[in-house]
Amino acid sequence: MTKPIELILLGAGARGAQAYASYAFEHPDEVRFVGVAEPDPIRRKRFAEEHDLDESQTFASWEEILARGQMADGALITTQDQMHVEPAVAAMQAGYNVLLEKPMADSLEGCVRLVQASEQTGRTLQICHVLRYTPFWRTLHDILESGRIGEIVTVEHRENVAWWHMSHSFVRGNWRNKELSTPMILAKCCHDLDILVWNLQHRVKRLSSVGSLFHYRPESVGPEIPLRCTDGCPIEAECPWSAIGLYLDARLLPRVRTLEEGEDAPPTWPFTTITHDLSWEGRKRAIETGPYGRCVYRCDNNVVDHQSVLMELENGVSVTMIMHGHSNEEHRSMRYDGTKATLRARFGRPDEITIYDHGKNEPEIVPIPTATSGHGGGDWGTMGSFLRVLRGEEKALTDVRASLESHLLAFAAEEARLSGQMIDMAEYRTRAELVTG
Ligand SMILES: NC(=O)c1ccc[n+]([C@@H]2O[C@H](COP(=O)([O-])OP(=O)(O)OC[C@H]3O[C@@H](n4cnc5c(N)ncnc54)[C@H](O)[C@@H]3O)[C@@H](O)[C@H]2O)c1
Repeated sequence: MTKPIELILLGAGARGAQAYASYAFEHPDEVRFVGVAEPDPIRRKRFAEEHDLDESQTFASWEEILARGQMADGALITTQDQMHVEPAVAAMQAGYNVLLEKPMADSLEGCVRLVQASEQTGRTLQICHVLRYTPFWRTLHDILESGRIGEIVTVEHRENVAWWHMSHSFVRGNWRNKELSTPMILAKCCHDLDILVWNLQHRVKRLSSVGSLFHYRPESVGPEIPLRCTDGCPIEAECPWSAIGLYLDARLLPRVRTLEEGEDAPPTWPFTTITHDLSWEGRKRAIETGPYGRCVYRCDNNVVDHQSVLMELENGVSVTMIMHGHSNEEHRSMRYDGTKATLRARFGRPDEITIYDHGKNEPEIVPIPTATSGHGGGDWGTMGSFLRVLRGEEKALTDVRASLESHLLAFAAEEARLSGQMIDMAEYRTRAELVTG
């Protein structure tokens, strides 16, 4: 039995501590965490207890842990969007191989710095494009690669963000304001663009985009609506975004049982985002005083709630990608129309792939292997892959140049939306001062 790979974690939040580090509980023979950097003392202590770390292995910031010298083979970096480039560059320079959360950076310049740092230091830099590591997307990718639907002619891909997830993350939460985080097309769709880059294998020649913040704005309601749901809001009982209905009694949250007065919430997202204290009183306090109790029409949000991107590939294929925050349920849906068949699919419980051959009446329902962790199996799939890459058993499925391409598309789409111009991607790529691919 080989020694487990040793990792440090920078940012023990929802993604780092819960989605990825939990892999170590099930696979102690593969990975061991030997250090954590996290300013929040409750999160730091909890992670140290769960992974059996002593005080010399816990740090209050990424700067402190990296100043200590190399402690492990790899660094898992799951800080917020605007804190990716500096710790990742510093970690690679300190000798760590890095698994970095998406988006790789909040600017084009940041993405380029990361690629350069990886190439100059010779360290692996893998971005958490978790979708590639799911049974669903691997199955879909293999079908397209096999030629089963012929030559792909046109693609429609939709990222349908549920109404309540939109309010949680992009109206009240961490990704609501592009000056504080990133534009929604980057935060939400760098995954979708990565999948399109992977599946289509021809680069985008030109793209355009439209979209706006349509609904979650002060003008959508009258002056009688207060700043918080708990301030006697006259429409609270029927509002699907009521913070009381989402976080206190949870009557509005899909797949969660309504909570009785006085009952604790389960220690899961989205409750763990709003407070450490999951008791009824703790959650009540959080929505009375914190950001997640704000009326969705009275927040400091400025990211879009719908955006469409139209792309023409170098081989003439046309692709439409639609992202919006008004879906009845969380899922992605898509169709690929080819010269031999049409493939229609949805990703999000239940996952489905169906192929309709031209000239045949019977559709083929494609079996999809069962997923075993969050994001359709992608969270642990990503961790497992990173560890195999470090053990020299496989090449990273999401190499850093492929990630650069999907991020370039997101930045270009935002520029196209704001300027109203069609973007020539060959010209846009030269701005990255790197020739990708
Ligand atoms: N791959 C995916 O599908 C996916 C899904 C959701 C979020 N994300 C991305 O994951 C990242 C983290 O998201 P999250 O929801 O876990 O956020 P989070 O806020 O829960 O976690 C970030 C953590 O970083 C800590 N931190 C702040 N300053 C620090 C410092 N100086 N040194 C070390 N740690 C510091 C924070 O205290 C916090 O605990 C974001 O970039 C987000 O966009 C990716």
